[in-house]
Amino acid sequence: MKQALMIFGSTGNLMYEKLMPAIDQLLKEEHIQNDLVLYAVGRRDWNTKDYFDNIKASSDNDINWDAIEKRLEYIEMDVYTKEHYTRIKHKLEDDGIEDLTVYLALPPNLFPVISEGISDSGMIIKGDMSKRIVFEKPFGEDLKSAESINKSLWECFDEKQIYRIDHYLGKEMIQNILMVRFANKIFEEVWDQKAIDYVMIIAKEEDGVLTRGAYYDKIGALKDMLQSHLLQMAALIGMEPPKSYDSESIKDEKVAVLKGLKMAPKDILLGQYKGYRDTEDVDEDSQTETFVFAEASIDNARWRGVPFYFLTGKSLNEKRSEIIVQFKSSDKITELWPKEKAKNNRLKIEVAPNEGVVFQFNVKDPGLSDAIVPAKLDYCHSCQAMDNTPEAYERLILDVLNQNRTLFTRWDEIETTWTIVEKASKRRNQLFRYGSFEEVKDEIINQYGEDFYDL
Ligand code: BG6
Repeated sequence: MKQALMIFGSTGNLMYEKLMPAIDQLLKEEHIQNDLVLYAVGRRDWNTKDYFDNIKASSDNDINWDAIEKRLEYIEMDVYTKEHYTRIKHKLEDDGIEDLTVYLALPPNLFPVISEGISDSGMIIKGDMSKRIVFEKPFGEDLKSAESINKSLWECFDEKQIYRIDHYLGKEMIQNILMVRFANKIFEEVWDQKAIDYVMIIAKEEDGVLTRGAYYDKIGALKDMLQSHLLQMAALIGMEPPKSYDSESIKDEKVAVLKGLKMAPKDILLGQYKGYRDTEDVDEDSQTETFVFAEASIDNARWRGVPFYFLTGKSLNEKRSEIIVQFKSSDKITELWPKEKAKNNRLKIEVAPNEGVVFQFNVKDPGLSDAIVPAKLDYCHSCQAMDNTPEAYERLILDVLNQNRTLFTRWDEIETTWTIVEKASKRRNQLFRYGSFEEVKDEIINQYGEDFYDL
């Protein structure tokens, strides 16, 4: 079947920075069909050569441009003009395309109009699994807009033709969570409130909002990061074992645990970095949060009494994403070595920039003393790969072309995560302003009275 990948919004950042390098890598590694056609759709009055020259000149990546040029075609169109979709449909027939992936690298308010154009023109017929549609988060700006976007998508496509990307799910170590949990008896056996003290999910960023002020000021960290990436990580850490390792069973369990996750407004700390209000397109009195620290609980037998903490923000001290599973202390330590202050066991799943798993446990101090000291078992995931581990978008594009749905989110996951965030932000706490991560830490300690080490 002759395959094509058609990207709407092909002159945007996502295409230039992420999708093009990922497609290039997949071609280099021969993961995708050699005759794959790449249609770049945009509204600029360009021809294929103009587009190719522009993307090539704007890219710092080491791309095999000859291979791209061979398969690339630019299509100029206006997403509001019905005839343009019909023209594209005829073009696809003339080009003999039988397997089509349409990627919407555009803001969500355009999804309904484009879906309708694609569907009415017959470019993609509802239920025809050889054609599918992919798009990025954010899925709306709140539950209501997400519902309305989703309703228009369902009018045009079958749920199984819809691929919603949360790019965190394409990251190697996020995919690894289920292996670490369920392929290791030592972790599976202790993965509950009897042994675990708390879970902390961290996604820190060093950059501010850069040039995305207009988008970000309407959204904020709770919706930009927590509603999607952080809650997805929590679902994988918290879910019950799926009946089998298939997309629907995994999603069923993710939704089940998310439905029991509660986050109260009083347990949310919101911050904004100093200087944010000077960003282009940001309101000078903006109350948008660029930092969130939140505590949630999960009301089920496995997790009752175990706090799930979430920390995410811009303009912090470093770029780091990881999941910490902190175990309780052992009574035996106090019984046998009452004077020792052993550290609790801790499992850290490092997502980025390091990729790996670190397990902290206690050992005897080497030498003549009987002191207890912490030691680490350190697994570096990226070191095991022959080359670099694949970028999230490589994996996601390949999966969508191969119709593998596991790493894409189902509507009920989105609905549940929006519900959590909406309830949590019913009443907004006052923002604190931060100029450094030390100030952020002080606020966390003030609120929680606990000094989470390693933050
Ligand atoms: C995006 C957010 O979804 O994720 C951005 O919109 C954020 O604000 C980005 O910077 C972080 O992703 P990563 O892969 O760089 O951790």
